Amino acid sequence: MKNFLSIKDVPDLGQLLKLANSIKKNPLGTPNLGKHKTMVLLFFNPSLRTRLSTQKAALNLGMNIIPMNVSQGWNLEFEDGTTMNLDKAEHVKEAAAVISQYADIIGIRTFAELENKVLDYEDRVINQFVKYANVPIINLESAVLHPLQSFTDYFTIETYKPKERPKVVLTWAPHPKALPQAVANSFLEWMQKTKYEVVITHPKGYELAANFTKNSTIVYNQKKAFEGADFIYAKNWSSYHDYGKIKSTDPNWMITKEKMNLTNQAKFMHCLPVRRNVVVENTVLDSKQSIVIEQAGNRAVTAQTVLVELLNC
Ligand code: CP
Repeated sequence: MKNFLSIKDVPDLGQLLKLANSIKKNPLGTPNLGKHKTMVLLFFNPSLRTRLSTQKAALNLGMNIIPMNVSQGWNLEFEDGTTMNLDKAEHVKEAAAVISQYADIIGIRTFAELENKVLDYEDRVINQFVKYANVPIINLESAVLHPLQSFTDYFTIETYKPKERPKVVLTWAPHPKALPQAVANSFLEWMQKTKYEVVITHPKGYELAANFTKNSTIVYNQKKAFEGADFIYAKNWSSYHDYGKIKSTDPNWMITKEKMNLTNQAKFMHCLPVRRNVVVENTVLDSKQSIVIEQAGNRAVTAQTVLVELLNC
């Protein structure tokens, strides 16, 4: 694997899953694989899980880690050919090349700005780093995708699935802020590589880009979608078509115990952070059906799996 930007960088998903299973059983099995290697983590946006799990994964492999909040550095320019006479002090062309001299791997977190769909969906920040860096890049959540989260979600479903072809429901849930589509997009991209029955439910107006929803069934009636589900994956996202807009905050879309009772004793999943009693009722989050903590724990396993693949390349 040269970079880890999306599932498209994974040559063999079965082999990746096998490696993740062995790392889960023995995370300290190769403590020197990353010795004298350095990973720089660039955070344009906040993080708890991604930041800590990626560092934990690197430490298990003996790597050095340099995390940096980009806001503490120079304001970067990403436009090629521009005249830099405004507020941007450094071009990504120099920044990426310079960081590549200090790093063997670079991880980047950069959210969608939710103002210009075309610009966001070009995923310019991460792609400009890929263009100008000389070392592998890991996507720690970009404007469009969150592959480390999705690999974790897939790994977690594989661990808990009660049958070979579980019914997996991705449900929109209300949220007071406009959030990117990256987690939902990426989750569906990974689900497309499985044989699972995948159902998406959301209010009208929240349709995701068609390339992410192909092979899935869209059901606008949330209760109907929940019937017989083995996994409920809740996530809010803002409108893709009316880009970045909040079209609904209808509390009737919150995940409740009553709705979970329609499922096949489904496991409840969420990438976290989650707003209690807005996205999901306390009674669901605190129940045995919720596996959000185990899911977050698996972030270190899948991050380590990706690092092993990149270091072995
Ligand atoms: N799920 C996830 O990416 O969490 P953080 O934003 O805390 O990294």
